[in-house]
Amino acid sequence: MAGVDDEAGLEAVRVRFLGRSGEITTLRRGIGALPPAERPDAGKVINAAVESLEAMLTEKSRELGRRALDAALATSIDVTFPGAPSRAGSLHPLRRTLEDACGYFERRGFAVVLGNEIETEYYNFDALNIPPDHPAREGLDSFYLRSGALLRTHTSPMQVRTMQANPPPIAIVTPGKAYRRDAVDARHSYMFHQLEGLLVAPGIHLGHLKGMLTGLFRELFGPAQTVRFRPSFFPFTEPSAEIDTTCPGCAGSGSLADGNACRTCGGSGWIEMGGAGMVHPGVLRESGYDPDAVSGWAFGMGIERLAMVRHGIDDIRVLFENDPRVLAQLA
Ligand code: DAH
Repeated sequence: MAGVDDEAGLEAVRVRFLGRSGEITTLRRGIGALPPAERPDAGKVINAAVESLEAMLTEKSRELGRRALDAALATSIDVTFPGAPSRAGSLHPLRRTLEDACGYFERRGFAVVLGNEIETEYYNFDALNIPPDHPAREGLDSFYLRSGALLRTHTSPMQVRTMQANPPPIAIVTPGKAYRRDAVDARHSYMFHQLEGLLVAPGIHLGHLKGMLTGLFRELFGPAQTVRFRPSFFPFTEPSAEIDTTCPGCAGSGSLADGNACRTCGGSGWIEMGGAGMVHPGVLRESGYDPDAVSGWAFGMGIERLAMVRHGIDDIRVLFENDPRVLAQLA
């Protein structure tokens, strides 16, 4: 029995002793030939042998079963074991804000156009009515390439590029990177993202822009947002304005529940989001448009700023360091 290690071997043992012509079966058949007085004792001995052999066969069969189960478990998957958590990625908060803002304009019929990050002085400055003696051109603010081209300092060049390539009406947003020679601190970076908007058609006025931006900020920040225009100056718009929206940090009140001034807006209740205005007649003319036939609004906003206000981030570097623990929180 010790040498038996499978069911076939076990069956061979059973047949050898207990089978029809097995050794014990043969002995039992021989009882009849014994003298009557010896028959009971012979029967007892044989029955005891059968019993103990059957017990051994049962025990051996159980042992074989246990071994087979152990072998199967050793090579199979334990479905009750806790699985390894799978880590799903997520869109970067900048990308999400950019896509949400572009989506808002796309649903209103605007096309999303992308431009080159390397621009000519003509499109970055001249065509936008930025004269050669303007400080932005002195190389202090711009990264120039050896060819005389530069890394665009804003997304506004796409206004003229798009108008020169297409007749009116125009309704576009153009998101992308812009570069300036700024030292990095909590509010500045040498690379950042802007969203530029442009709508040109007969009869367009600033009221159209105010309505459009109110909708944008309500979509990004909440249903109570309003928009305020503050007079400003840009060479490529006339009139020009800074765009403010209700501070989402304090719902425009300027103060927090504990009575302290709101840190997001510094207590003013408003947050500056970018610049805007009516496209300057000179820019329309440079683009081949007739300023007497069409008018248009334009705006430019920092996407980092939108994302920071949206997520309550007070340091722009958080958006570029990409610490996975922070990104997971903002997902
Ligand atoms: N280009 C400006 C900047 O980078 C932002 C800007 C202001 C864009 C007014 C516009 C505009 O389209 O109309 O600071």
